Amino acid sequence: MSITFNAKTKTFKLDAGQSSYIFQIDHTGCPVHLYFGPHLETDDLGWLRRNKIRAFSPYPSGGVPTDSRDLLKQEYSTFGIGDFRVPSAQIRTATGHAVCDMRYCSHMIYPGKPSLSGLPATFGTEDEVDTLELTLFDAAAQLEYTLIYSAFRNVNAIARSVKVANKGDQNAFVEKIASCTLDFDETELELISFPGAWARERCPERAPLRQGIVTLASGRGLSSHQMNPAFALVSPETTEEFGRAYGATLLYSGNFAAEFELDQFGAVRTQFGINPENFEWKLAPNAEFQTPETVLVFSGNGLGEMSRSFHNLFRTNLIRSSWRDRKRPILVNNWEATYFNFDSEKLLSIARDAATLGIEMLVLDDGWFGKRDDDHSGLGDWFVNEPKLGGSLASLVDKINGLGLKFGLWFEPEMISRDSRLFEAHPDWCLSVPGRTMSEGRQQLVLDMSRTEVVDYLFGVISDILDHAKIEYIKWDANRHLTEVGSAVVEPDRQREVAHRFVLGMYELHERLLERYPDLLIEGCSGGGGRFDAGMLYYVPQIWTSDDTDAIERLKIQYGTSMFYPPSSMGAHVSDCPNHQTQRVTSFETRGIVALAGTFGYELDLNKMTEEEREEIRRQVALYHQLNPVIAQGDLYRLSSAMTDSVTAWLNIAKDKSECVLSAVRPRVEASAKHTKVYLRGLEPDAIYCEMSSGRSFRGDTLMNAGFPLELAAHDGAAGLWHFVRK
Ligand code: DGJ
Repeated sequence: MSITFNAKTKTFKLDAGQSSYIFQIDHTGCPVHLYFGPHLETDDLGWLRRNKIRAFSPYPSGGVPTDSRDLLKQEYSTFGIGDFRVPSAQIRTATGHAVCDMRYCSHMIYPGKPSLSGLPATFGTEDEVDTLELTLFDAAAQLEYTLIYSAFRNVNAIARSVKVANKGDQNAFVEKIASCTLDFDETELELISFPGAWARERCPERAPLRQGIVTLASGRGLSSHQMNPAFALVSPETTEEFGRAYGATLLYSGNFAAEFELDQFGAVRTQFGINPENFEWKLAPNAEFQTPETVLVFSGNGLGEMSRSFHNLFRTNLIRSSWRDRKRPILVNNWEATYFNFDSEKLLSIARDAATLGIEMLVLDDGWFGKRDDDHSGLGDWFVNEPKLGGSLASLVDKINGLGLKFGLWFEPEMISRDSRLFEAHPDWCLSVPGRTMSEGRQQLVLDMSRTEVVDYLFGVISDILDHAKIEYIKWDANRHLTEVGSAVVEPDRQREVAHRFVLGMYELHERLLERYPDLLIEGCSGGGGRFDAGMLYYVPQIWTSDDTDAIERLKIQYGTSMFYPPSSMGAHVSDCPNHQTQRVTSFETRGIVALAGTFGYELDLNKMTEEEREEIRRQVALYHQLNPVIAQGDLYRLSSAMTDSVTAWLNIAKDKSECVLSAVRPRVEASAKHTKVYLRGLEPDAIYCEMSSGRSFRGDTLMNAGFPLELAAHDGAAGLWHFVRK
């Protein structure tokens, strides 16, 4: 059992992998956080609770000043009784107040982990994970809080979520409910966040915290390009390889907020959960509300180890798809090849070329349905445009299968065009607010996914397409953010539930499709990587990382993405040149090396390839088959920073250390470059590794301590890839 309770001292100890997490129920019934860090043998840390008496920190009547909630590190913080830092929860009861004072009531420890109804969650067997359910009760509000902690035995990971139940006889309104609170007493923590924009997702930024509150959030309805629901708090000296790193992700694809408050005494409080802005949930008597799950990872060995813990956990205990450990088919997607301008002959000619080059799947992107020759119309009408395809989808798919290729198809289920049959029939199916016009994004509106009939409709039409042609992959896109977030069928005091209900509806549609089509490979997408979050990975094994397919810009995007999300989940393709987003010219080889770091595929017009490029594709296809198992299933070491170093280098090592792949790209050539070698990591020091292209052999410790020279060609964007095999 990785979770213990010391009844004498009322101390809980969670041992997750090589880390420990310790808290204690104090004499006031408050769960006081004591420790999160490297594994400890002892749970005897009660002395850490000690507080100084501080002026201006009120304390519970009848208690002593050191009980002030303003001073205590708490597992879930109170609100309105003397803790002036950002609260965990604010729940308004019938009296109109939202004061929260929850105290220990009972607990349960058991092997295994519960799933969360309607929400993504990590999972594990009774041998892999143990769970603590800690019940707190707020007697005045008649609210019961269950803090759920699951500690994974072999990974430094703890999953947390919260359930609140209304035990009173009047409605309560949840205004804020964090999935987890983490109070640190470490000073000088720095925050690494993953902000961005369309075509610039998850480019990390690092800054020290200052007294006050910093919030990382999305209020866009989707987890967003602009801020990823993940962060790391690190010591100032922390690097890739050294130092303490606390990482957290939220398994949620909608509005989120991560709040960090460096308080007056140098302690850091962190809240992570659904964004309280424009959120409220009516909790009728006996009803309960379950928050999304957060996953916390501690690493004592820098950001690299933190990432590998997330990768391991997500690969084995989050991604459910039957494709999780399977080599994904190399695909060619027609989007950047044709945009909306295709017919069956064009698709077939791409497929014919693909077949001769060893590509395994053709993905038909936007434009195959309804009236959709540009992005002004057709969304919602998931009926095959047979005139455009020159016949039924099934006959096209048969022909493509006949060439030896699988077939994949694009959908954008949650969206609707004004100019569509669906809008004509059901204008009220859109998110809307009475008296306000519906804002448009990419000329489209958003379906009210909180409505059962909308989810039923989508399940019906998508299943109908999937049942009538052999479709083995779908790309699930979402190309705008939510505005006028209201539902035509929800009563006024539940309208602020709609953003969350939207996410639940989207998850339900995924759940139903996954159940009906367990072998379907689904790639998530939202205008590139606008919904690349751990919540989605519960439903889909891979996500299109960015609409920016420029290999050089991708270095930063993939670098940031890899902090939390495994290479097997990063959709990456070789695209056309000059690049459609940046106009940059990059060699075919470089584009291949960068795309090989993810799921791998092509996004260009194969009909236009020169003989030289076709040769290069064949070479890349062979490399993919040879190296992908190491890249997708092995350990990733980032050897340099894509944000600050002149060469971006990364290393993928097989779990058994029998082989590794070193990749490096130098975005800009330098006449007198400083960076000429990298130090490999994670190898067996005594083993001999042969570098396959030169046939040269090196001991593992030589590669790690003396380094390996990077001989890159003298042009911008030069890249290299070296495969080492243990002798
Ligand atoms: C945005 C996606 O990210 C692209 O790859 C492409 O599928 C377009 N949408 C299609 O509209």
